[in-house]
Amino acid sequence: MKTEAARSPDGVRIYAPEDFEGMRRAGRVVAEVLDMIEDHVRPGATTAALDKLCQDFVEASGATSATIGYRGYQHASCISINHVVCHGIPGERALKDGDILNIDVTVIVDGWYGDSSRMYVAGEPSVKAKRLIETTYHGLMLGIEAVKPGGHFGDIGAAIQHYAEGRRCSVVREFCGHGLGRVFHDSPNVLHYGRQGGREAIHSGMFFTIEPMLNLGRPETKILADGWTAVTRDMSLSAQYEHSVGVTDQGVEIFTLSPAGRFAPPWLR
Ligand code: MF3
Ligand code: CO
Ligand code: CO
Repeated sequence: MKTEAARSPDGVRIYAPEDFEGMRRAGRVVAEVLDMIEDHVRPGATTAALDKLCQDFVEASGATSATIGYRGYQHASCISINHVVCHGIPGERALKDGDILNIDVTVIVDGWYGDSSRMYVAGEPSVKAKRLIETTYHGLMLGIEAVKPGGHFGDIGAAIQHYAEGRRCSVVREFCGHGLGRVFHDSPNVLHYGRQGGREAIHSGMFFTIEPMLNLGRPETKILADGWTAVTRDMSLSAQYEHSVGVTDQGVEIFTLSPAGRFAPPWLR
């Protein structure tokens, strides 16, 4: 007999305690990919070469890329440079000194999805680029700290928005975090802005991503003719950090922590 998946009153899937172990294994592989690639990000490297390193590492880990073949996407990573907000397509573009970039990788291990991204810098970034990256990193971590059973998804968005706007960064509205687990993109939509106490109730056993995109200029984005690449409309710099998390009775577990302690911006470690 097949039992129906448990859902919260808002229709958000609730996983069992034993499911956390699957998410830990998937999250660990993604974190190891993102740790590995840091040593290869430097001026002159092409994003296609970085993507190839990610793909080879995923396969050598016995995992599967979740993005290759996803809605026609053909790469193991999204690499989003400077004013690219997300879903940058790897290619022959070589990194230049001062470029900032997000690398986003999603893998499947035994049917469980792990999804994470971080910021990297090629050479020496500008002071304002570093401020944007730090704000995005701290914004994500404050969003994660807002996760607790009995709270609401609006608490996450409110924490991120309050912090980001207080640091004169804008929060992208057109892209959000998402439930994940045995599927890549599930409900709920995890907004990175909002009101304390708003949106769905948070319950122990929920798995989802938090992945704020912050801009130095205005929040509006547009998608380029390739159908994927999202950029800031005003061409201002954009940054993003993403973790996959699970709600516990105590609070929250991060599945995509770096075993090497490399998740935070390098100058904050
Ligand atoms: N990893 C992205 C996310 O955080 C989704 C990338 S889908 C792709 O949800 F097809 F663009 F790779
Ligand atoms: Co995601
Ligand atoms: Co992602």
